[in-house]
Amino acid sequence: MQIDLNDLKTKGFLDIPIDSNINIVEEIKRMKKEKNAVILAHFYQTGDIQDIADFVGDSLKLAQEAAKTNADIILFAGVHFMAETAKILSPGKKVLLPDLEAGCSLADSAPAEAFAEFKKQHPNHLVISYVNTTAEIKSMTDIICTSSNAKEIIDDLPKDQKIIFAPDKNLGNYINGVTGRSMVLWDGACHVHEEFSVERILELKEQNPDAKILAHPECERPVLIIADHIGSTSSLLNYTKNSKFDKFIVATESGIMHQMRKANPQKTFIGAPPKDSTCACNDCNFMKLNSLQKLYNALKYELPEITLEEEIRVKAEVPIRRMLEISAKLGL
Ligand code: 13P
Ligand code: SF4
Repeated sequence: MQIDLNDLKTKGFLDIPIDSNINIVEEIKRMKKEKNAVILAHFYQTGDIQDIADFVGDSLKLAQEAAKTNADIILFAGVHFMAETAKILSPGKKVLLPDLEAGCSLADSAPAEAFAEFKKQHPNHLVISYVNTTAEIKSMTDIICTSSNAKEIIDDLPKDQKIIFAPDKNLGNYINGVTGRSMVLWDGACHVHEEFSVERILELKEQNPDAKILAHPECERPVLIIADHIGSTSSLLNYTKNSKFDKFIVATESGIMHQMRKANPQKTFIGAPPKDSTCACNDCNFMKLNSLQKLYNALKYELPEITLEEEIRVKAEVPIRRMLEISAKLGL
């Protein structure tokens, strides 16, 4: 079949109609075997995508899987920086992202040129960047971290080490608080996590006094102050499994509740309300661009593929490897 590559350029994905008689889930499973492909999915994907994935996890677990997989193809059900990280770690593999438009507002909040200037203004600082960054920012970074290892990686550094933390000011503020550091913060944020309303969460808590509030550290400080537990997606999920409580208000992207409900069918999970009551703000519009149809076409036609300039890839690999080494050393 002739593929219209213009679709890739204009839409970011292959908009090829799929025969309605096809069982998409079974076909994806069959192609996966035939092509020796692995599907990695982030917790913020829709439930149907999480259920078909070989590995579902947080950013750290997905990077660890991407580094060690024996597959020939990695189909990444997540956003662009995640697939890019997989490509940086596994350059010999074909890395596919179902929709190239699946970006990240947080990664976009740190443009390379401005960041290079920021670094110049802070000489003698070590650069720690959250994994939610472009390959170019990673190539200017000393150590990458995720929300599940940021505290430990920073605690591992000498107390007098000057640090730039980028790009998430909310995570950076939180880490400054729990480590007692004064890292210089880049002024970036995630549009999903900044949208939660502390007032509306407190109203919800009043109606559900038995509910525990869970928050991702990408949320703003007022939300973190009222949270009973703060952590990465996997940390929030584990908390729900190990907690004796039965009801939770969840201040992070809605996709994580799929795993929470699967692991705790008897417990209740309520999405934290956003400031704007009319929007579906708990959904990351980038994460939710992926669909089973796009995964099917991506695997079938092996497009869209993530490619990187080798010079950038090699430089970006160094701080990610450092993160993986430190995480392994610390047993994370
Ligand atoms: P984690 O899954 O590592 O907690 O990251 C959350 C996130 O925002 C990914 O985009
Ligand atoms: Fe980026 Fe926020 Fe979406 Fe995560 S939830 S991918 S940080 S925009």
